[in-house]
Amino acid sequence: MTAWWRDAVIYQVYVRSFADGDGDGVGDLIGIRDRLPYLAGLGVDAVWLTPFYRSPMADFGYDVADYRDVDPMFGTLADAKALIDEAHQHRLRVIVDIVPNHTSAAHPWFQEALRGEKRDRYIFRDQPNDWESIFGGPAWTQVADGQWYLHLFDPAQPDLNWDNEEVRGEFESILRFWLDLGVDGFRVDVAHGMVKPAGLPDIGKGNQARMVGREPVPFFDNDGVHEIHRAWRRVLDSYPGERIGVAEAWAPTPERLARYVRPDELHQAFNFHYLFAPWDAAELRAVIDSSLATAASVGAPTTWVLSNHDVKRHVTRYGSLARARAAALLTLALPGSAYVYQGEELGLPEVLDLPPEVCRDPQRLRDPDSGRDGCRVPLPWTRESGWADPWLPIPADWAELSVEAQDGVPGSTLELYRAALRLRRSFEGELIWHDSPRGTLVFSRGELVCAVNFTETPVDFGLEGELLLASDEPGAANSAAWLKVKCRA
Ligand code: NOJ
Repeated sequence: MTAWWRDAVIYQVYVRSFADGDGDGVGDLIGIRDRLPYLAGLGVDAVWLTPFYRSPMADFGYDVADYRDVDPMFGTLADAKALIDEAHQHRLRVIVDIVPNHTSAAHPWFQEALRGEKRDRYIFRDQPNDWESIFGGPAWTQVADGQWYLHLFDPAQPDLNWDNEEVRGEFESILRFWLDLGVDGFRVDVAHGMVKPAGLPDIGKGNQARMVGREPVPFFDNDGVHEIHRAWRRVLDSYPGERIGVAEAWAPTPERLARYVRPDELHQAFNFHYLFAPWDAAELRAVIDSSLATAASVGAPTTWVLSNHDVKRHVTRYGSLARARAAALLTLALPGSAYVYQGEELGLPEVLDLPPEVCRDPQRLRDPDSGRDGCRVPLPWTRESGWADPWLPIPADWAELSVEAQDGVPGSTLELYRAALRLRRSFEGELIWHDSPRGTLVFSRGELVCAVNFTETPVDFGLEGELLLASDEPGAANSAAWLKVKCRA
């Protein structure tokens, strides 16, 4: 039998914005627990929970102060245990986030370091180099006694020193803590960042955040990170039930990315090359082919992802709901594992007009155009939103996008996802491309065919067979359809 994760659909829950169980305007673990039937009914295989650990929330939980406890804003450790157990009763696996590149500045280790004790757990130097933070500005902050510490993200997120054995040991122990509690895996934050090159060489030019994922940068994707992933894989494999590791890794080429999912490393890596491809038949086909080939070269499954809590939602990126619905059918027909970001099943767009005073993302403080608040607006459960006083305002016109408004309505985006998640299991085997008109893609897997029209004009695909599902009238502009046909190839 195929291991569960090789073709799983994993639903990303951005905890703060998913569901509010205690009515304080911030999503929480009991809120998620209440919505497990919704997730099970949607037809996903697993949920990935973004960080819910104790944190000052300088980067909304990606600044962890205690890796073994739940932030009171989100609940208690008992709530986490209950959520994991109940998810399992619904046959949903649970993946949690682990943040190993940096801690919070409030972490007891960093507090000790500030007092001048055990600084070797972090990266302190007498002089900074020229590295820049991914969020903008210098990657170094000076402390009272004159030394500087490295933070590739916010100053409140000091980078750990992974050459320090205590750091390595601590994280293995944290993995075991959550595995013992029953989690099915980890999404590894900044999986490409933990190891820094000896001597911390200067880069010699600015705009370094823009280089990430496009060209080599000395602070990311150093070969030394793979030894850590191998050690973690041994920990995962020592537990029953195929517990997995998913790399959030940015590498300059698909080949470099494939190294994170070699057989003795992590199981999956997010496919950001797919996410960033434009709505264009030729470009998407090229990304699909290269993703399949590079993953196959190391025996790993591909993953497909269209949105997450760090990027503009794809309804807005692609420019229309029609395209986003078609993209969903394209994505869910591909071989491998797919990620669904909360709210994409409702067709939510990016919120582009949040009042500046409510925006909280640290990235936005430095560059207002790249803020990530607009993709983190709480999920509308009911026409009235279902939130007492949501931490970010929910647009009034989301009433008709709410779960309540779409539930059971034929043709709604929610019902499209439900049907697609049910039917996608019928796609089996390798992807075979078929000739199709310019600006379209047609591929089959077994007897099932996916036909996508990326153009602004209707197309006659000339396919005969049973129509299983369509994002619009089959062949319509910016649409996709699934059919069962006898293949010609
Ligand atoms: C990637 C996370 O997805 C993002 O939200 C966070 O800001 C950075 N890593 C730093 O932890």
